[in-house]
Amino acid sequence: MDKIKIIGGNTLNGKIYISGAKNAALPLVCASLLTKDAITLQNVPALSDITFLNSLLKYMGLKITEKEEIFDQHPTKTYTYQADDIKELIAPYDFVRKMRASYYVLGPVLTRFHHVEFSLPGGCAIGARPMDIHLSSLEQMGASIEIKNGYVIADAPEGLKGAHIIFSKASVGATCNILMAAVLANGITKIENAAKEPEIGNLIDLLIAMGAKISGRDTSILTIEGVKELHGATHAVIADRIEAGSYAIAAAITKGKIELINACAEHLQQPLRTLERMGVSVEEKENSIIIDAQNKTIFGEDIYTDYYPGFPTDLQAQFMALMTVAEGASLVTESIWENRFMHVPELCRMGANINIHGHASAIVRGVKKLSGAPVMATDLRASFALVLAGLVAEGETIVNRVYHLDRGYEHLEEKLKAVGANIERIKEPD
Ligand code: EPZ
Repeated sequence: MDKIKIIGGNTLNGKIYISGAKNAALPLVCASLLTKDAITLQNVPALSDITFLNSLLKYMGLKITEKEEIFDQHPTKTYTYQADDIKELIAPYDFVRKMRASYYVLGPVLTRFHHVEFSLPGGCAIGARPMDIHLSSLEQMGASIEIKNGYVIADAPEGLKGAHIIFSKASVGATCNILMAAVLANGITKIENAAKEPEIGNLIDLLIAMGAKISGRDTSILTIEGVKELHGATHAVIADRIEAGSYAIAAAITKGKIELINACAEHLQQPLRTLERMGVSVEEKENSIIIDAQNKTIFGEDIYTDYYPGFPTDLQAQFMALMTVAEGASLVTESIWENRFMHVPELCRMGANINIHGHASAIVRGVKKLSGAPVMATDLRASFALVLAGLVAEGETIVNRVYHLDRGYEHLEEKLKAVGANIERIKEPD
């Protein structure tokens, strides 16, 4: 398994191009299941999560073509998906266990083909990750659902029908799944307490371009009037706000200055304001954000993760890495996932001073320096937090289990190297 070696201490300066968002691309790819026509997606990031999802869709019978294209003056991938000859209405365990976002096939396949079988993904390192909201919403839309041998078997012989659904939590995954189910349902579906993450707006834009009738974008009440069929469209994935936030912290922790090209400041308001309160200068431009921590003192600050537009849980670990070397104390409260402090013991092995209270709060007391160590994390964002700690630590840090990073950070070493990091991938046989 590959490792990443970092020699800490370099100040990072320059520009980093922000890629298309993983968490936007995954539901967009599955929306292609809703029509027999071709769906072309631009600015798709080259990530293992996309490759896994593509392999599931190929197994189901989709035709997928891939090409390199210039998007926003940068080379990216464009994929075309065509679901005109679906052979399998099943997402088997072997695919889902590798990539839980495979659950995005559920809504589209059930609404278009009236049957789907889907292996329940189970929990993961950050939490139990139930799917009760997805499943109970589909039941309210008339589906019969049986759980057998670890699989959800869902049927709606007459098709799904519109319903008034109130989510118990503003789940991103359930909002995407039920939106995709509702666009081809009979009648009107109203979703209350829907998630408002920018990735959902990106999905709504594609669905509307395909002929769907949806109102309430960016609000917590979505109204969808089902149509008989959808048609092809071309659509671009939005910039990855979590990748942008992660590199903003790379600038802050190394006391450098980085311009995040193609980043969308509107999608990052809470993290950017937090960085400012910590002492970092933030300049929002039309198509970029400049993060400047040169000669700045970084202070501790409190964060509380919440549904968008609250502070994103997917940036909690990275901010914690910054807090470990800030002046004073910071309080981190994680409200979305019940087990998202797996990076804490590893940061402590590098010299950080962090105490966890209960399962939701951690107090970080800033230390003068971290020291490099071999470390590993059990999820994507925690792994990036360890990379950040390695960038500022004295000596050598080896980050193991790089496959987590490959799921969500396109060209990570190249991007960091280009702004001055001493970082390399050590290739090792699996
Ligand atoms: C998405 O996960 C993201 N993944 C996660 O990013 C992100 O952390 C999360 O949203 C929150 O922002 C993708 O977009 C692929 P949820 P998702 O359903 O959709 C509870 C990363 O690092 N819940 O919004 O699975 C759930 O337990 C990843 O890129 C139920 O109780 O998250 C959690 O407490 C990690 N029942 C809360 O809702 C359900 O049926 C929010 O989960 C569904 C969710």
